[in-house]
Amino acid sequence: MSVFRTKTVEQSIRDAEGGEHRLKRSLSALDLTVFGIGVIVGTGIFVLTGVAARNTAGPAVALSFVVAGIACGLAALCYAEFASTVPVAGSAYTFAYATIGEFPAWIIGWDLMLEMALGAAVVASGWSGYLTSLLKNFGVDLPASLAGDAAVVNVPAALIVLALTAVLVAGIKLSARFNATMVAIKMAVVLLVIVAGLFYVKGANYQPFIPPAHEVDGKGGLAAPLIQVLFGVQPVVFGVFGIFTGAALVFFAYIGFDVVATAAEETRRPQRDLPIGIIASLAVCTVLYVAVSLVVVGMQHYSSLSVSAPLADAFRAVGAPWLATLISVGGIAGLTTVVMILMLGQSRVLFAMCRDNLLPRPLARVHPRFRTPYRITVVIGVVTALLAAFIPLAAIAELVNIGTLFAFVVVSIAVIILRRTRPELPRAFRTPWVPVVPVLAVLACVYLMLNLPVETWLRFLVWMVIGAGVYFGYGRRRSRVPVTEEPVLEN
Ligand code: ALA
Repeated sequence: MSVFRTKTVEQSIRDAEGGEHRLKRSLSALDLTVFGIGVIVGTGIFVLTGVAARNTAGPAVALSFVVAGIACGLAALCYAEFASTVPVAGSAYTFAYATIGEFPAWIIGWDLMLEMALGAAVVASGWSGYLTSLLKNFGVDLPASLAGDAAVVNVPAALIVLALTAVLVAGIKLSARFNATMVAIKMAVVLLVIVAGLFYVKGANYQPFIPPAHEVDGKGGLAAPLIQVLFGVQPVVFGVFGIFTGAALVFFAYIGFDVVATAAEETRRPQRDLPIGIIASLAVCTVLYVAVSLVVVGMQHYSSLSVSAPLADAFRAVGAPWLATLISVGGIAGLTTVVMILMLGQSRVLFAMCRDNLLPRPLARVHPRFRTPYRITVVIGVVTALLAAFIPLAAIAELVNIGTLFAFVVVSIAVIILRRTRPELPRAFRTPWVPVVPVLAVLACVYLMLNLPVETWLRFLVWMVIGAGVYFGYGRRRSRVPVTEEPVLEN
């Protein structure tokens, strides 16, 4: 079956070394870790903490962060093994190509657009919201039709996407430097929240730490979580169960550690440095998230936390509005790098797909001077800017979660497969306790997916069907990998 042909690991690595399709290797383990933190810390901690604490978990939202962090940690161990074995730009797409076959790989590549391009557009609209509210603090009112949540055309969101596209085209090192500056600001603000916030913590706000569970009527129809429709589970908020529902929500906060793997071809020593970058950035963020959420629910009773800007508003509530303004600035810096690196990751995945001819190969041309995949980067920038400008993204934001979780599931399964099919490959990093860890990763991710609404699943299926259509209409006939497993030479 030609749709299940695999591309050998050796061939993938050889392709990454070819002439005009070769990227510049300049990143270190530290750069990768900073990249990881740049893309992970964003809307999740700056916004969702409030929603999750107030509506589903109470002060135990900190435990929701622990649960989601563990699920991501399991998946990260699988990503680390793959990234050290097949250090090629496509991340999950390339891993699937080496193990399960071309069509599943294509589907994963297609799926990753939900995580990265759509994710970038969603976070860019959040960025526009933060900007609008910050400018309002200074007495500048942007017209509601041109900025913020209810905009008809979200101009700031589109402009930030285009500006970041220019930075990405100009070079990976410049992108890394810009990222490092923004991450420094964002980290300073997060640490400020933790340290300054401690002075305002009141023990009484932690009582009860896990508020008593109660059933809610729940949303019916398409808005109900799939788990409820399939198994008749009554939606429960708070209590121990609420911690897990909260975990499905705050999962978004961890999205991005996997994007580190897409920088494989720009890393100087990928076998060693990718696992470090993936695991270190996730570990740092988990610790920060637990600390921030504990402080915030200690500052303000969970039932009065704000759902749009909980960190900044908690400081406003305790009478420190100037700190609130600083936090908004940090939020803007923070969201900027999330958008940028999601687009970076997206360009590297599509770059790998074009190089394999599953999408037009000329798009994978690398800029002669900047050594970046400039053509595909510009295409992504324009599409993302249009999405951010014209589509009301709040309604489809959960597609980002389902797309990411699906990729985690496939990568975890692929680790087990590659251990069987190619046991002899050198693996600089080995996932511990295979197959236990990958199986647990799959179970945790599937559980989180089941907590997403039925309508999200339907949209996800529609997107995948479109992807299958594109593959059978275009990529299948053009693929560079022959049906026999002989490696092809550069054409
Ligand atoms: N983890 C990223 C965020 O929270 C996507 O914005």
